[in-house]
This record gives sequence, structure tokens and C-alpha cells, in this order.
Amino acid sequence: MDIPHVSVLPQEIVDAFSTIDDGVIIDCTVGYGGHSELILEAKPNIKMICIDQDIEAIEFSKKRFEKYEDRVSFYKGRFSDVICEIENLGEIRGVLADIGVSSLQLDKEERGFGFSSSSLDMRMDQNQSLSAKEVVNEYKKENLEYILKEYGEVREWRRVASLIVEERPFESSFSLAEFLSKHLYSKKLHPATLVFQAIRIEVNDELGELKRLLDSIRKLNIHKSTIAIISFHSLEDRVVKTTFKDWSKDCICPKGVLRCACGNNHSFGMVVTKKPIIPTKKEIYENPRSRSSKLRIFRVK
Ligand SMILES: C[S@@+](CC[C@H](N)C(=O)[O-])C[C@H]1O[C@@H](n2cnc3c(N)ncnc32)[C@H](O)[C@@H]1O
Repeated sequence: MDIPHVSVLPQEIVDAFSTIDDGVIIDCTVGYGGHSELILEAKPNIKMICIDQDIEAIEFSKKRFEKYEDRVSFYKGRFSDVICEIENLGEIRGVLADIGVSSLQLDKEERGFGFSSSSLDMRMDQNQSLSAKEVVNEYKKENLEYILKEYGEVREWRRVASLIVEERPFESSFSLAEFLSKHLYSKKLHPATLVFQAIRIEVNDELGELKRLLDSIRKLNIHKSTIAIISFHSLEDRVVKTTFKDWSKDCICPKGVLRCACGNNHSFGMVVTKKPIIPTKKEIYENPRSRSSKLRIFRVK
């Protein structure tokens, strides 16, 4: 079977769940099944619940996991929705999310994520209505400025938003990338990389999804479980870092109160990774798309 995606931090994910020998692990972003397969192989008594909003990814992983049929179940949908509905399927001992876009999504021409694509789409879930076309061609200039600055960390966000607004409509990712290449310069990356990243995050509401996922995890009735989140963007990593820190606190009184009035017993568990785990130089060399990945782990008590 030709696997269209190389999983990032593979050994680190196996290690993250090494203390768990039974129960259920939820893979919120199964994609092409790389991480799930590593866990299924390493842990013969673990069952996996595999979620993805991309039907192509689900279909692929279903085939890949035929031999684990009785240990795997699949759910198509946004992880923030699905995770609330699956609590009764066994004792949940782990949650994994590898937040981002898969190589197949990036490389498959018609999905519109790549610079040479003839469509302007970028939807992970092909049933959703918002696509890159509306974002690029219909968003107000101020909204474009916001997403370029916040999600793309584009240095010249004002100028780039103005350029897009003056030149639009764009019909394809290819025409947008060509246009940006004429006006932007980047030493290492394609000049359109950060603009494309910003549009993709907006189209798929990636930050909103991450926040809702973390909220949903906090509400799960779970104990002695491991939560492992891989993110690829500094904003996302910051959300994971501060959420994990908040989860570990016993006191949830507002800042500045003189006396604790909350009971001082609210901790959900402990942060395992004070600093994020990042790929080795060797991994980055072998899989350049891993370069910005960061893994943070939390242990629920
Ligand atoms: C980086 S890939 C996962 C790769 C996988 N861990 C592996 O090792 O093969 C990310 C996947 O998450 C999915 N995804 C991203 N955001 C999602 C969301 N909010 N709900 C469900 N799936 C999501 C994407 O469709 C994509 O298939």
C-alpha cells in the first residue's frame, strides 16, 4: 500500500502512550493512519477510535487497518463535534491530535492546497461550504489583513492584503501563487507559503477547532489518561501550552484575589512536557514537513 503521508515524531508518539496498555485511544486526526498504526502495533490490547473530517483519509485508513478490524472504529467529522459523542465506547486512556494538513491534501492537485493547483479550495472537509475562493475573493480587506497577520505571520500583511484585493478575483491556487511570487520574496520557502497557510487556517477554522477540542477533552470523564497534541503553528502551540498549564492548576480563582475561594482542588493532572518535543535534525532532513512540529503531552490524573 502506497502511504501518501510521513507521520511526524513517530517514536515520540509511541513513547507518549507507552504507559498505557489497555482501553481506548482516540486519534482525532487519523489522516493516513501512520500514528494509529504505530500504536496498534505496539499495544495489542488497545482499541483505537479514529476521527477525520476528510472522507478520503477515512477511506484510506479503513483499508489500511483491515487487519485490525475488531480493534478500530472510524468516525467522519470534525473532532470537536465527534469527541463529545463517543464517550461511552470504552475507557478512554489517551487522546492524540496531529493538527494540520496531510501530505496528500497538500499534494493532490484538485484539493487546492498546493501552489500549482487549478482550483482554489483548501477545504479538509469537502462538504463544508466555506472555501479558499470566498476567503480570497470576497473577504473584506480588513479581514484579510487579520488572517495574514495572525495566521500567516506575513510580515507585510497590509501590503499583501491590498495587492490581493486590487488584483482579485483569483480562480486557482496557481494564479494566486504566481501573482504572489511576482510581488513577494522569500529566501527559503515559496513566496506564497505563509499566505497559503493563513488562508488554509481560516478556511478550516483550525484555531477554533483546536480550542473546542481542548474544551471537549476537559469535559470528558477520563482518568489516568494521556493527551498528546502535535501542532505546527506558534499560535496553536501557545493555545496548547497555556491550556495544559491551566489544566494543571488546583486554584482557578481570578488573578489577584487575596484568598482562594475555589476549593483549590481543580487540577486535571500534570504537564509532562515543560518544553515541547521537536523533531531531530535527522527527522527534519528526511521529512522537511516535520520542521515546525511541536508535541506537548499532558497526563490526566
Ligand atoms: C497531519 S494529518 C494527520 C496524519 C496522521 N497523524 C498520520 O500519522 O498519518 C492531519 C489530519 O487531520 C485532519 N483534521 C484536521 N483538522 C481536523 C478537524 N478539526 N477534525 C477532524 N479532522 C481534522 C485532516 O483532514 C488531516 O487528515
